Amino acid sequence: MTSTLHRAGIARRENGVPPPDVPLADIDLGTLEFWARDDDLRDGAFATLRRESPITFFEVMEFPGFPAGGGHWALTRFDDVHHASRHPEIFSSIPTSTSLNDVAPEVAEFTGSMINLDDPRHLRLRTIVNRAFTPKVVARIEGSVRDRARTIVTNMVANHRDAEADFVAEASSLLPLQVICDMMGIPEEDEAKVFHWTTVLLGFGDDEVSGEFAEVIAVVAEIADYAIRLAEERRANPGDDLTTSLVHAEVDGERLTSAEIASFFILLSAAGNETTRNAISHGMVALTRYPEEREKWWSDFDGVANTAVEEIVRWASPVIFMRRNLTQDIEMGGIEMKAGEKVSLWYNSGNRDEAKFANPWFFDVTREPNPHVGYGGGGAHFCLGANLARREIRVMFEELHRQIPDIVAVEEPAILRSAFIHGIKRLPVTWTVPA
Ligand code: HEM
Repeated sequence: MTSTLHRAGIARRENGVPPPDVPLADIDLGTLEFWARDDDLRDGAFATLRRESPITFFEVMEFPGFPAGGGHWALTRFDDVHHASRHPEIFSSIPTSTSLNDVAPEVAEFTGSMINLDDPRHLRLRTIVNRAFTPKVVARIEGSVRDRARTIVTNMVANHRDAEADFVAEASSLLPLQVICDMMGIPEEDEAKVFHWTTVLLGFGDDEVSGEFAEVIAVVAEIADYAIRLAEERRANPGDDLTTSLVHAEVDGERLTSAEIASFFILLSAAGNETTRNAISHGMVALTRYPEEREKWWSDFDGVANTAVEEIVRWASPVIFMRRNLTQDIEMGGIEMKAGEKVSLWYNSGNRDEAKFANPWFFDVTREPNPHVGYGGGGAHFCLGANLARREIRVMFEELHRQIPDIVAVEEPAILRSAFIHGIKRLPVTWTVPA
């Protein structure tokens, strides 16, 4: 190898050091300022909440066109997040689980996908697609995932002879995008469009990547229109893809409506894209900051991969929270909550809970057991794509390890201003050019 490493990576960190202390009085999850903070301050705030006020009522952020509605009870301890996830009869996903704001009428039509429903209808919808995500089927597509990852890393290296690139644009965003588009039967030439749509949708709140609420609504309409046209095409010419499964499925003896197909399409394309992308990006940051953990993994890639991938998801917590809606009055941890109130499940916080994880501030690629709630706390809505995500993360790092093992982040990650997605917008990296 010829060394052309221009810049050293971002500063390494002392592993296991807790974040700075943030006083309770300074914490308001309902402000954009809070979500503009860096990861250390966010982590410090949630550590304070877990310790001093594990269930706290917060107001919801108001955006033009997107009414806040009532506030929510924030569950920040692992056990509470886990409990709520597994009791959907009390913690319901109706009317929505993905937004703390009240759902505006113009988006209501498209929020009927299964993530915002309870059983039995939720289960019936999930059954239409879940065969495509079983470990067996995911293992079958491993070859194609690997080919794509190989090409992505090869292209990044070939296109940047100076050995510097934006890891998000050139690597972490591409693999999940290509894989989910392939599974859904979206032609390659439309991938950039899907990328743009899901970025605007889940980047809402960050002016750099998303826009006003009206722009988000326009994007929802564009995806819906696209989904319906693709579905019509598949009705006429069935393929071996998820869109074909959606048009042929019957639920309760009836075919899905166009609106139902559209909302399913939005869920799969957004969930398949925005989450794994950020897990891979945060994994890159962590392996730069904790080089001895990288060393441990690289020296026995296959032996360590399973635990390393789980630890990346715990560490990244790409989905920060989900919402539930109380179906009855309850008492939890001495707090009384009323039927109809909103409850939020903070996965990022559960994943750092000192009561559950030995040394939670340690990025430990061999952590075991690792019962993290990155994919949800179990129960009916547990991430459908978890097997696929694990495979994509593993294969991506396998290729990086094989082709450019010393790749490092050279600037602090640009963190998305979002309460929902723990996103990285840009991540400049460098590597030694292979001989
Ligand atoms: C590291 C990557 C990923 C993370 C961290 C993640 C996280 C999550 C979380 C937290 C939930 C909600 C769980 C709950 O409410 O109990 C969820 C649900 C879901 N995820 Fe993922 N996800 C990832 C990748 C994927 C991929 C690749 C897909 C592929 C399409 C996917 C599809 C879904 C779907 C469809 C649901 C809704 C399931 C339901 O309502 O039954 N996810 N995911």
